[in-house]
Amino acid sequence: MAHYTSTHRDCFLNKTKEEEENIERTFQGYKQLVSNLPNEEGSEFFDQICLYQGFWIADVHCQGVIAVQNHFKARSTDIIGATNPKSGTTWIKALLFAIVNRSKYPINNHPLLSENPHGLVPCIEIDLYNGRIPDLEILPSPRIFQTHISYTSLPQSMIDSGSRIVYISRNPKDAFVSLWHFKNKLRAVLSKPPLTFTEDFEKFCKGVSLSGPFWDHALGYWKASLERPQHVLFIKYEELHEDPVLHLKRIAQFVGYPFSSEEEKEGMVDEILKLCSFETLSNLKVNKIGKIVGTPFPNEAFFRKGMVGDCTNYLTSEMIERLDQITEEKCHGYGLIM
Ligand code: A3P
Repeated sequence: MAHYTSTHRDCFLNKTKEEEENIERTFQGYKQLVSNLPNEEGSEFFDQICLYQGFWIADVHCQGVIAVQNHFKARSTDIIGATNPKSGTTWIKALLFAIVNRSKYPINNHPLLSENPHGLVPCIEIDLYNGRIPDLEILPSPRIFQTHISYTSLPQSMIDSGSRIVYISRNPKDAFVSLWHFKNKLRAVLSKPPLTFTEDFEKFCKGVSLSGPFWDHALGYWKASLERPQHVLFIKYEELHEDPVLHLKRIAQFVGYPFSSEEEKEGMVDEILKLCSFETLSNLKVNKIGKIVGTPFPNEAFFRKGMVGDCTNYLTSEMIERLDQITEEKCHGYGLIM
């Protein structure tokens, strides 16, 4: 079946040798720039993370962020799923893809049944600008992308063009626990020793985690959602869990693909929710045995428990209190409850 995947992978084709050399030189410059940033070693599954514009990013992805800032040209029709890692990226990718393409594919023969959501909706800085400059102009509208870039570091054209951004936030306690498991799963693949829970917790609290400080990341999008509600929608992972029908309809409306009353009567909302549910996706063959494209990492690393409140099985009451306190200090003044 021809679908979106082949299209975004086509964006790297047809470069002349001269263009390839220019791109290589450009990335050498970015690499140099990144090497001068403050950095931390060994705390992630990457060798090093660096502090860029107030946020911690893997060195190699930081080059991608700079490339996105310099080269990405947004369209008003672009739809962007934005997240802190482990806050619902896989879920929002699946939902956006299914919403926008619902008239293209029958549910029982859907790309999401044979491909991981990360293969269908690319992360701009990780999948598209990873040492390469894709020709995204060839993609038909609406283009769906995902990013972990903080709101304040988004390319200006994404703000100016009026692209629609759907941000999924998650409570920091569950997100931390999820991230710790994820990092250790990937480290095991690389034969690296696991990260100690308490040391990793300390770093997370200090803001030293992928895309961290966690709270600043969420706050940037929260404030933007208040200032530009037509362009930035802020939804909590927990809300999606609690009332998926309501929030799926909100997302569809927001990105310009509202459900008609006929579709609702025919059960389209429930079908999409079922297709994109943790239960369905995590039990698919592709997500049980497949690998993240171009990496040695298993797709199943993106699926663990998919529940709200798992943090209580891992965090002590002191740890919970500490994270709650940081959340209160950083976020409550802005009306953000996480
Ligand atoms: P847990 O580790 O708490 O289970 P991300 O997609 O941002 O990497 O986040 C991964 C987290 O979302 C994991 O949380 C994973 O289990 C959960 N998740 C993945 N797919 C999901 C889905 N379709 N619905 C709900 N949660 C999902």
